[in-house]
Amino acid sequence: EWRTFETREQMVDELTEACCEALMRGIRKRGTASWAVSGGSTPKPLFEAMSEAEIDWENIQVALVDERWVDTDHPRSNEAFMRGALQKGEAAEAMFIGMKTPHDTPFDAVVAVNERYAQVKQPFDSVLLGLGSDGHTASFFPDAEGLEAALDITGDKTCVALTAKKSDVTGEEVDRMSISAAAIAKAPHVVLMITGDEKKAVLERALEVDTHLPIARLAENVAITVYWAP
Ligand code: 6PG
Repeated sequence: EWRTFETREQMVDELTEACCEALMRGIRKRGTASWAVSGGSTPKPLFEAMSEAEIDWENIQVALVDERWVDTDHPRSNEAFMRGALQKGEAAEAMFIGMKTPHDTPFDAVVAVNERYAQVKQPFDSVLLGLGSDGHTASFFPDAEGLEAALDITGDKTCVALTAKKSDVTGEEVDRMSISAAAIAKAPHVVLMITGDEKKAVLERALEVDTHLPIARLAENVAITVYWAP
């Protein structure tokens, strides 16, 4: 389902409301709610708005959708980004769950990270995804090592390890951890937030032509609401 807006402000307003509703619904049902969030530049204004939202943050867990296997103070760490972007204002009350462990590789860390995510309420009440110009979403990069297991909708793991190939988008081969397609598929609210004509074209092309791209393969199995503004 596509939801298109004339301005980014309108999109952020609507998306803020939708995410708050999904989280409050989770709290009403089971006392706590979990929100899985992606990094990138696109969601920054959403995080700004969410950090001012007066919802029951002390009963909300904020967990990463995915992470680069770098130290948590590394400039490209999603955990570091998220702590700056979302652990503030009202949202500072939320419990934050990152992915990085001291293990050398994400493949060594799968058991430990899944143990950590076992504390996060499942299914996630809301999952926020982004889209890369190469058709990746979460850490489902084209041709990544671990991609088939990550996209396996029947998989039993919440978190999976991948190695993204060197490309124009990744810059270098990079080890990553991600929530799995199976975990995303169980969530009642999954949104893909994109802006600009380029991302729109990438997504349309993936859905219609480049159906081997990870975003298209995920969309085959998961009901995703796309939020788009120019
Ligand atoms: C990451 C980023 C990445 C991002 C997309 C879109 O973990 O590498 O989170 O996956 O979501 O590349 O990025 P922009 O929003 O900056 O276009």
